[in-house]
This record gives sequence, structure tokens and C-alpha cells, in this order.
Amino acid sequence: MSTELAQARSLLAEATRAVVFTGAGMSAESGVPTFRDALTGMWSTHDPATLASPDGWAADPDLVWAWYADRAANVREVTPNAGHRAVAALAERIEVQVVTQNVDDLHERAGSDVTSHLHGSLFAPRCADCGRRESPDVALAAPRPRCELCGGSIRPGVVWFGEMLPADAWSRAETAVADADLMIVVGTTGVVYPAAELPERVAARGAPVIEVNPAESAVTRFATVRLDGGAAQMLPALIA
Ligand code: APR
Ligand code: ZN
Repeated sequence: MSTELAQARSLLAEATRAVVFTGAGMSAESGVPTFRDALTGMWSTHDPATLASPDGWAADPDLVWAWYADRAANVREVTPNAGHRAVAALAERIEVQVVTQNVDDLHERAGSDVTSHLHGSLFAPRCADCGRRESPDVALAAPRPRCELCGGSIRPGVVWFGEMLPADAWSRAETAVADADLMIVVGTTGVVYPAAELPERVAARGAPVIEVNPAESAVTRFATVRLDGGAAQMLPALIA
């Protein structure tokens, strides 16, 4: 066992209220692409301004809808990995709050209750005009569907660049972080705010931060220890 893993396991053994804060790397080994990994990250082949911004939606809602519907279909095809399952298993031992930047439902499908989807969900489409929430299956509709209630435009249920995070999701995340005696950060570059502020808040209180990531990130400087490897390999070893 590496010294880092032994250290992380002893930090976890002391914890009673953990926040597991996850990013795209959490789902990478399930076959869901990340955003910023070189070559394979979605932002290396797609333009976030066109596909993940209010202006992009206004300019071409059909293109944006089709991209998110395709991502939702991909998530439906894949399954949670051993890392997702380890997070769910940890909640049987101590209090665990999952705060995720991810818009997939893999934590839920592995059995976790997700405290907060900071950036929304692929499976929560809603009417951009009247706000009516649509069923998860509507996320895969083609062509782009219209609202049955008001005839308005149905949009993906995700947070785009430049948009505010859902107030309730942010408030639940802040409460979970304020109450935690440990944070496990999995698979995030830690460059998108305000979500990226959360590990710093835990470290600032002197609580330990365990990072799981095969590369250094903007979170690494706040981490007590970084487990250098993938979520599906490192989380089972940490939580076993
Ligand atoms: N296990 C753990 N971490 C991994 C793995 C893996 N198997 N594979 C890659 N990683 C790490 C990468 O090293 C990188 O640090 O996952 C991170 C992925 O970073 P990003 O692609 O930037 O994803 P994320 O940090 O979640 O992005 C934050 O940006 O585009 C917006 O809204 C989007 O929620 C997203 C936000
Ligand atoms: Zn409507």
C-alpha cells in the first residue's frame, strides 16, 4: 500500500461526516468523456461557447438540444463504475454528502443520494418560458420538443457558463461543506467557480481534503494527500 493511500485511509477512519465532491473524472471510467483532458476532453473538440452558454442556445437551440440529448443517450448506455459504487458503500458506514458538478445520474444509479447537482442534470429538462419540469425521458427527445403547457421552448436542465447555479443546490452544498470533517475530491480540474471554492473552504477550516486524480489540479494545493490514480481504482482501495 502506498504511503499516500495509507495516510488517506487513516484520515477517512477518523471521519464521521464526509463530503464527496466530484467532477467529470468520476465518470470517466464509465465511458463518459471529461471536458478538459487533453485529446479526449469534450472541450478539445466542441466549443463550450456554442454548446454550453445562453448565447449558444439563443443562436441555435436545435444544435444545443441535440448535443445534450446525445450526451443523455450516452449516459443511458453506460453504467456506474467501481468508484461510484465505493462512494455509495461509504454512506453505509459514515454520513456522506455527495456534491457533484456532473450532470449524469451515475451516482444515483450506484445507490448514492446526491445532496447537490451544482451544475444541474441532463435528466431534468424544463420549459425555458414557463419553467415546467419535464420527465427525464424528454431529455432524449428528437427533434427538440415544445412545452405542452405553454408551447414554449424546452431547454436542457444544466447550468451554462454565465448562468447562476440553482440557489437550492448551492445552499445545500455550502451547508454540507460547512458541516464536513473530511472532503474527498474526485476527478475535477477545480477551475470552474463557484464550485471550485468548496475544497478551499474545507481546507481553510483545517479539515482534511483527500484528492483522487491521476493528475495534479487546482485543488491539489488544498489537498492533504492526492491519490494518483483513477476513481474506479483508488476509491475502492480508499474505502474498502
Ligand atoms: N479518475 C479520476 N479523475 C480523472 C480520471 C479518472 N479516471 N480521468 C480524468 N480525471 C481527472 C482529470 O485529470 C481532470 O483533473 O478529471 C478531471 C476532469 O476535469 P474537467 O474535464 O475539467 O472536468 P470538471 O472539473 O468536472 O469540469 C468542471 O466545467 O465544463 C464545465 O460544467 C462543466 O461541470 C463541468 C465543470
Ligand atoms: Zn412552458
